[in-house]
Amino acid sequence: MSRSYSSINTPLMSEMSQQLEKRRKDLVPILELLRPVQPGPDVYTNDFLSLTNDPDLRQLYLDKLAKAPRVFGVGGSRLLGGNSADHMEFEHRMERFFEAPSALLFTSGYDANVAFWHSVPQEGDVIVLDEYVHASTRDGMAISRARKDLYLFSHNSASSFEEMVLRALQEHPSIAQGKNTLFVAVEATYSMDGDFAPLPDIVRIIDQHVPKESAHIMVDEAHSTGVFGPQGRGLVHHLGLQDRVHTVLHTFGKARALTGAVILTTPLIRRYVINYGRPMIYSTAPPFTIICGLNASFDYLEGPVGDERRALLRRMCEYFQDGLEKAFEHIPPNLLTIQERTLPAGYPDDVMSPVFPILTSYPKHLAVFLNACGYAVLDIPYPVVPKGQERVRISVHALNTEEELDALIERLKQWAHMMQTMGSQGQVPGRTQSRL
Ligand SMILES: Cc1ncc(COP(=O)(O)O)c(C=O)c1O
Repeated sequence: MSRSYSSINTPLMSEMSQQLEKRRKDLVPILELLRPVQPGPDVYTNDFLSLTNDPDLRQLYLDKLAKAPRVFGVGGSRLLGGNSADHMEFEHRMERFFEAPSALLFTSGYDANVAFWHSVPQEGDVIVLDEYVHASTRDGMAISRARKDLYLFSHNSASSFEEMVLRALQEHPSIAQGKNTLFVAVEATYSMDGDFAPLPDIVRIIDQHVPKESAHIMVDEAHSTGVFGPQGRGLVHHLGLQDRVHTVLHTFGKARALTGAVILTTPLIRRYVINYGRPMIYSTAPPFTIICGLNASFDYLEGPVGDERRALLRRMCEYFQDGLEKAFEHIPPNLLTIQERTLPAGYPDDVMSPVFPILTSYPKHLAVFLNACGYAVLDIPYPVVPKGQERVRISVHALNTEEELDALIERLKQWAHMMQTMGSQGQVPGRTQSRL
């Protein structure tokens, strides 16, 4: 790219600069990729089972790579010379593991959601979706044939879900007549709050109101795969609902420590997405390296390590929760509160989220403080989340130690104490102030 182009002021450059400036004025953070994440205790990533730096998994992966006949890319999309026995065997493995009729592999969860949601719903179909579903789901829906018939329900509210289903049925009689489909889009666990979809209520409400042949429930397990369910099969399995939902997405970039995703669905939908899902058709297939790594990750988690890590994760989550509750007892709630954590109806007690939103009116201030203490956490300010819900998001990992979590809690207390002292001296920064 020409160096001189970056120094001249073109209409495009000035428009983009203005938009970034507006973002800054609206207090939406301007994100930069200027330095790698600092090493330090991991209380931020989605590597919930602490696999990304695991020496045994690394060795397993390297051994597989050493024996693999091919490790680089396939040279094209699956449909353009990029299909291999390795890709197909991995999909069969996923079908067996998740007890699904068919599986389709994607380069990322983003691609999988866009491919499914833009291609599968047809003219006259409707989609009932949680207001907080991921951007990849929304992006797919935005170019879907059903894009004008989206019914958003209030986040995780079973009553709002039912209201939207009834409204959709009333406004689209073709669904009750069995001529069109009502799709449901939810995530098993949501990333910002770490809370859970009311899946048992959702399947009950759908069974109650929508003819069997007109319903299609799609559950995105991005944050729950590996973490819940027998051998990490996800929340749908954990709740025993695998025969009551129609399509499930598992992504491999979080607890499975790699990248890629698989959609578990009917053979016909699989065939349809191969033919009509644009990210599937127009993007290079995952390379052999990734297939090797995914096989290593699944081998590893299907063995005893998987259950050990899940048990450890659960223990560390309980430890952190107790520690936070005690620490925040005497701290004003506008400084630090933990969001109330209740399980949806029909969930067993053993489900506990590794994501902890720490609510504060000063998210940026707290994040800057924690960054300076060596924690790579990010603030999530208004308007990314509603006013009063501003937070710093902490995620707990299987191999976090008690000492690491204690030290983090100490830092939180230290920050709150500092803010209270500043407050008593009339120096507490406004909610909008971005730096200490
Ligand atoms: C709920 C959800 N779905 C899909 C994705 C996209 O997955 P990937 O990172 O594999 O593209 C994400 C990523 O954050 C996610 O949180």
